[in-house]
Amino acid sequence: MPITFDFAGRTVLVTGAAQGIGEGIARLFLASGAKVAVLDRDADRLAATWPGHESVHAFAVDVSDSAAVAHAVDDVVAWAGSLDVVVNNAGITRDTVVWKMTDEQWREVLDVHLGGTFAMTRAAIPHMRSAGWGRIINVTSYTGMHGNIGQANYAAAKGGLIAFTKTVAKETAGFGITVNAISPNAATAMVTAVGPELLAAMTATVPMRRFAEPAEMAAAVAFLASEEAGYITGVVLPVDGGISM
Ligand SMILES: NC(=O)c1ccc[n+]([C@@H]2O[C@H](COP(=O)([O-])OP(=O)(O)OC[C@H]3O[C@@H](n4cnc5c(N)ncnc54)[C@H](O)[C@@H]3O)[C@@H](O)[C@H]2O)c1
Repeated sequence: MPITFDFAGRTVLVTGAAQGIGEGIARLFLASGAKVAVLDRDADRLAATWPGHESVHAFAVDVSDSAAVAHAVDDVVAWAGSLDVVVNNAGITRDTVVWKMTDEQWREVLDVHLGGTFAMTRAAIPHMRSAGWGRIINVTSYTGMHGNIGQANYAAAKGGLIAFTKTVAKETAGFGITVNAISPNAATAMVTAVGPELLAAMTATVPMRRFAEPAEMAAAVAFLASEEAGYITGVVLPVDGGISM
């Protein structure tokens, strides 16, 4: 894909960047000239995916640890001098029907998606406010809008993220900061974990009859982070081959 975005001079932080959608997002920003901070709790995979580049700084961080998130944001600003774009992408699933769901399965999913996005957003906004410019892009899901059997925890977290996105968008609209979300559909480890039979059935429900590549999610995120998207805030952009139509 030819690169048409220009993020030279910008610092971008992407959570869950060791693989999948987060990796794809970080690679597009890097190719578009940004300094990129890549965060993931899987330190080994993070080091393998990002073995060393002068414009990339890798941080092994669990986003559900709010103190570690605040510390990482300070480290990113110390490294790059600013923090302009945050992509809250890190995510997990712990699927089971609600009557079998443990407290741990419930809490873990809410702590990563909602807690992590809250902690990161809280830590990033003061830097964006003082710069008078910022972009926050959260990663929600079709499930957060429509529900899905076996995913009460994930649906609650992703639905909560939409309400969080709109609220923070309202709170920061006067400071040159936009806050938006994408709702993806991409062939990653999280999706292929369901196995080939269920994957084929899921693919059949996509109007475009395919799952996307992470790079296609990255293009939507880059648009929302661009100068040109400066009048767009509080939206959820489905990048899903039409499943949400
Ligand atoms: N793939 C899809 O079609 C799809 C659909 C809807 C939503 N999403 C969302 O997109 C995001 C990325 O998913 P993916 O498909 O790339 O999944 P993935 O499992 O391939 O990647 C997720 C990454 O997040 C990291 N991570 C998990 N918990 C973390 C934590 N507490 N702290 C830091 N890093 C953590 C993992 O180590 C992993 O590298 C997730 O928020 C997911 O819910 C994906």
